[in-house]
Amino acid sequence: MTIDQLMAHLRDLCEKGAEFEELLEAAVQELSRMDPRFHWTGIYELFSDNVLRLGPYVGSPTDHVFIGVGNGVCGTAVAEKRNMNIPDVREISNYLACSAETRSELVVLIRSGERIHAQIDIDSHQVGAFTDEAVEMVQRVADFLAKAYEVRGNPRLEG
Ligand code: SME
Repeated sequence: MTIDQLMAHLRDLCEKGAEFEELLEAAVQELSRMDPRFHWTGIYELFSDNVLRLGPYVGSPTDHVFIGVGNGVCGTAVAEKRNMNIPDVREISNYLACSAETRSELVVLIRSGERIHAQIDIDSHQVGAFTDEAVEMVQRVADFLAKAYEVRGNPRLEG
């Protein structure tokens, strides 16, 4: 599937009235197939207690089901309200290891302006796996999901 086909697939699911969770699951499943370097692909959702909780993912199970804002790469992305592209996780001190094989990590926020709903987190066993093209692709999916969160509201943040 190309990224255009993936976007069309997500739009199609919406038009057919798919459940929100189904949309998240499809995004993760298809994104993980987009690049052989994406060894772990998942969504963390931000809850009103300022904790990220693991949603759907493809890859090995992780101990990091809950991540506080400010912790690790994922929590830092939320705290600093910015995407993170870490070419080599061995060079950063606050990294939370999901797998000993992980070398690079990408976090793209699913956001509506200042309001952060969730994030897409991808790990790769390869150093510097996340090229501009890969980031742009993940960003398109994140922006689409942000619209879906807007339409649905975000009961997690609204308590
Ligand atoms: N590495 C992340 C934790 C999530 S796992 O990679 C799935 C972090 O440092 O926040």
